[in-house]
Amino acid sequence: MVSILPSILSGCAAKPFTALDGWHAKSKTQADIRLLILSYAILAPNAHNIQPWWVKLTSPLEFELYIDQDRLLPETDPYARQIHISHGAFIELLDLAARYYGYLIDIHYFPQGMLDNTLVSDKPIAHIQIIKSKIAEPDHLFNSIFDRVSNKRKYDDKPISTDILTQLTLALYEDVSSLSFTNDPRLLKTISSITNSAMQIETEDHRRNDETLQMFRFNDAELEQYRDGLSIDQAGVSGIKKAIAETFFVTRHKAMNDKSAFSKEAINLTQMQADSAMAWAWLTTKNNTRQEQILIGRTYARVHLKATELGLAMQPLSQILQEYDDMSTLQKRFFKLLKIPKGHTVQMLFRLGYAPTVRHTVRRKLENIITRRF
Ligand SMILES: Cc1cc2nc3c(=O)[nH]c(=O)nc-3n(C[C@H](O)[C@H](O)[C@H](O)COP(=O)(O)O)c2cc1C
Repeated sequence: MVSILPSILSGCAAKPFTALDGWHAKSKTQADIRLLILSYAILAPNAHNIQPWWVKLTSPLEFELYIDQDRLLPETDPYARQIHISHGAFIELLDLAARYYGYLIDIHYFPQGMLDNTLVSDKPIAHIQIIKSKIAEPDHLFNSIFDRVSNKRKYDDKPISTDILTQLTLALYEDVSSLSFTNDPRLLKTISSITNSAMQIETEDHRRNDETLQMFRFNDAELEQYRDGLSIDQAGVSGIKKAIAETFFVTRHKAMNDKSAFSKEAINLTQMQADSAMAWAWLTTKNNTRQEQILIGRTYARVHLKATELGLAMQPLSQILQEYDDMSTLQKRFFKLLKIPKGHTVQMLFRLGYAPTVRHTVRRKLENIITRRF
């Protein structure tokens, strides 16, 4: 193995890797204000990093936002709730960027009518107008956009004070949602045990597994090619360890041939993540309309940016919230534990802690999300 390693490493270094370029301030050179603020919006957190957005430019200061019907997760997110949350996060980053550059955005949600919350419609999610304004004030959360990352590594054994956690609530500005959290060690353990069981349930179905496998990128070449999806980098695997893992242990071929090994890895990884949570937090809405899902996405993005500002690592673990039948019994138990009022929806559940940062996730090119096909 020793003699092979240098060639693996030099092989990696020789290839240009551009799929992370959007995370650098120097990439923000677009003269068109629409493209400039969209170049920040695409950095939004989003389910499976599937990047489900289409943008239709309609006039020099206007555009519409749509769901890309080819970028859905029908097995793990059957009603596209998480897809709409992802769009909300996109809109929030768009808004933060507009303010930073001295513009306000006027957002008209669902301009062709509210969408049914069990269907994915080809109608726009939002119509957005950009207005140059002297009263546009930058929001300090903008400064954390390039540092925010869903950190999936093991967190340090270092408690988070209630004072710090309370500061997360300062990021909320839409009163459709409420943020709750716990750092009580006993409750942390119970929640972790439930999230571990939820991952077990999720991986028991081969179609759900396949969906995740399809979105998993096994090496930098795949990341550069697809510019979307999940990888081991965010779990803190890097450098020589990553080169070895990619070359000898984790390949698409191996995973396709032994799918149970892939799901076992997912279960082990979740356990390591959940068991090292120093706090859990969750965002809840009174109902579960498409509008609430969008607004919770905006709120989630703000909370994640605030956590980044506070030096906290953060990662959602969504399996217990998924809406397929075999999760419903455990989900009811979970909602009872958290004392969620009847009919309310937990939209996001995430763990928090302290940990070194990890590499960003890749993004598609801006030009590939802009369409005139409607
Ligand atoms: C609605 C939603 C659900 C998510 N669920 C999970 C999850 O269950 N597990 C996980 O590790 N990350 C989850 N994430 C985080 C995404 O994987 C992450 O945002 C995406 O890979 C992009 O990476 P970034 O947030 O570092 O930019 C979720 C994000 C969103 C917005």
